[in-house]
Amino acid sequence: MPKGIAIFARLAQYGKFHITILLIAERGLKVPKKKIEIAKPEGKLGVMTCGMGAVATTFIAGVETIRRNLARPIGSLTQMGTIRLGKRTDRRSPLIKDFVPLANLDDLVFSGWDIFPESCYGAARKAGVLNDSHLNEVKDFLEEIRPLPAVFNRKYVKRLNGPNVKRGKTKMDLAKQLMEDIQAFREKNGLSRMVVIWCGSTEIFMKPGPVHQSIASFEKGLRASDPGIPPSMIYAYAALKLGIPFANGAPNLTTDVPALLQLALENKVPICGKDFKTGQTLMKTIIAPGLKARMIGLNGWFSTNILGNRDGEVLDDPQSFRTKEESKLSVLEYILQPDTYPELYKDFYHKVRINYYPPSGDNKEGWDNIDIFGWLGYPMQIKIDFLCRDSILAAPIVLDLILFMDLAQRCPEMARKGIQEWLSFYFKSPMCAPSLYPEHDLFIQLIKLKNTLRYLRGEELITHLGLEYYD
Ligand SMILES: NC(=O)c1ccc[n+]([C@@H]2O[C@H](COP(=O)([O-])OP(=O)(O)OC[C@H]3O[C@@H](n4cnc5c(N)ncnc54)[C@H](O)[C@@H]3O)[C@@H](O)[C@H]2O)c1
Repeated sequence: MPKGIAIFARLAQYGKFHITILLIAERGLKVPKKKIEIAKPEGKLGVMTCGMGAVATTFIAGVETIRRNLARPIGSLTQMGTIRLGKRTDRRSPLIKDFVPLANLDDLVFSGWDIFPESCYGAARKAGVLNDSHLNEVKDFLEEIRPLPAVFNRKYVKRLNGPNVKRGKTKMDLAKQLMEDIQAFREKNGLSRMVVIWCGSTEIFMKPGPVHQSIASFEKGLRASDPGIPPSMIYAYAALKLGIPFANGAPNLTTDVPALLQLALENKVPICGKDFKTGQTLMKTIIAPGLKARMIGLNGWFSTNILGNRDGEVLDDPQSFRTKEESKLSVLEYILQPDTYPELYKDFYHKVRINYYPPSGDNKEGWDNIDIFGWLGYPMQIKIDFLCRDSILAAPIVLDLILFMDLAQRCPEMARKGIQEWLSFYFKSPMCAPSLYPEHDLFIQLIKLKNTLRYLRGEELITHLGLEYYD
């Protein structure tokens, strides 16, 4: 047995036998190593997407293509990533999907809501992300998936209008209809578990108000159709009320309010968000930590994008753009810590622009001009021209989030925490406990995610200290 490890066996609550290992690390830190219960992923996992546009259909078509062995799950950490365990000399690096009990892709069943009634095949063709040869291979499957009528109100997404919309006397009626949809999908497909994920449009900028302060005020607001409750919150409420995990792929306020946080905690349901980290912000959170690591200063960072998909059209509305802008702007402040490093990062200029340009379709182009300075203050510049495909980057994130949120719901220790901060890796604006600031650095986020998985499986956390190899 390695030096400094003490093992305590104890009879835990509920009469079950647990073993707790206390690992005394070199610095005298006690790292608890516990056996944590995770139920097996038995049966079918239902996935409901709020919104079945470019991201959702690229995700669903991709999963089916992969299930038919016609492509590889590139970009998905759960499917392709490995995790190092123990010392570097141990040579233990299993695939993440073999290390933690994740649902199998074959067990995923799809449904969702959209304001447009076309099947996933029609919506995917319109989105123009995947080419015809890819889509035709899974056409039969995609045609079978038709969006359920949505909870929608143009007040919150001004540039959209569609016919496939629910009617209800109050917002509470609409929430009940969503719950009926969820239950019907569960029963029809004999699902053992579900995850709901927001892949719908970006709503107008909103701030928490009195109606969001408690579950009681929120439910009163639903019954009174309070304008402070946008559709995304109605979906989240319906899912959380039924004990179903909810992930938020847009920058919408949604679950970032006390009432829904409280509901998640009360019902012990995992939640996470917000705003999938793809494209330009992904690049930002890769490059900024590197500049800070080398103590290189920043004078300004100008980011502009052109994109021509429906998301771009929605974001052309200033109120929806404001929601996105807040989400995109915050990352540099948190990563660079101007208060800690005023000589390097105080008053840097940061601007983000998104321009709707139809000819680009989903193939977004993002330019960054970064003005930096080095030794003795000498200026330098970095220019990035990222010709990316938004939904191609987002689809594997959706898959990973669904599988990890399902893992969290099968693990009481994780589910009862509500917010799954370890999934920050996937978001532009990661949710975290109200008393914390979010972690934006992609590399810290990855360490956090992998250490969480190690923790869940009772493996030693990796500190990358490495001195022990030289003793
Ligand atoms: N593509 C990316 O890389 C990326 C990255 C981060 C965030 N996002 C966000 O993900 C979301 C989806 O992006 P997309 O490219 O698929 O957009 P999209 O416009 O192609 O799809 C969104 C779909 O949501 C539907 N919708 C809008 N409001 C709805 C409601 N209340 N109920 C049900 N359906 C509703 C729309 O009709 C549309 O079909 C957007 O909010 C976008 O900002 C996307």
